[in-house]
Amino acid sequence: MYRFGRRVDALPEGPRRRLLTRLYWLLFRLVETATGISLPKEARIGPGLRIWHFGGIFVNPGTVIGADCTLRQGVTLGNRAENGPCPVLEDGVDLGAYAQVIGGVRLGAGCRVGAMAVVLTDVPAGATAVGNPARVITAHPSNPPHPSGEQTFEDRLPGEPLPKG
Ligand SMILES: CC(C)(COP(=O)(O)OP(=O)(O)OC[C@H]1O[C@@H](n2cnc3c(N)ncnc32)[C@H](O)[C@@H]1OP(=O)(O)O)[C@@H](O)C(=O)NCCC(=O)NCCS
Repeated sequence: MYRFGRRVDALPEGPRRRLLTRLYWLLFRLVETATGISLPKEARIGPGLRIWHFGGIFVNPGTVIGADCTLRQGVTLGNRAENGPCPVLEDGVDLGAYAQVIGGVRLGAGCRVGAMAVVLTDVPAGATAVGNPARVITAHPSNPPHPSGEQTFEDRLPGEPLPKG
């Protein structure tokens, strides 16, 4: 559904795009209701996203998710206040069940967030964070950061950076 929405946005202006945009919103709401997973097309999401178990997964449109990230049931990626900034997940971030990541925080490549954690501050690459508010318990990389070459992870994501909110 997400990829379909991105393709519709890339079409030239015209009746076909308008029609497909309406179809997208209808299907988006159906999928959201049926699965409890909300992945709006405005979010920038890299390849290889894994969703383990459905239900209660909400991603704010202003969120950025790098390649090969993992979300589990109950995960929220959103802002702390209406129209506030949203999280940026670099490549290979792994979020435990019901992890809540809110605000303009950056989760470094390959970091892990424990089940039920509430993340309000940045987590360094490769670190593990748990608790409410989340604290780093392991600063050593346990997952190797995704290879990036010369590009930053954001260079490889679809679309332009979007206004937060
Ligand atoms: C965060 C996580 C990745 C850490 O794994 P780990 O590196 O093996 O860490 P450990 O199990 O050795 O725990 C290290 C410490 O963190 C604590 N801890 C681990 N996970 C925690 C969590 N989710 N919340 C709070 N504390 C946690 C442990 O109690 C331990 O504390 P201690 O040193 O005081 O004894 C893992 O515990 C986790 O939460 N994974 C998510 C799994 C999940 O969502 N499963 C649902 C599948 S449907």
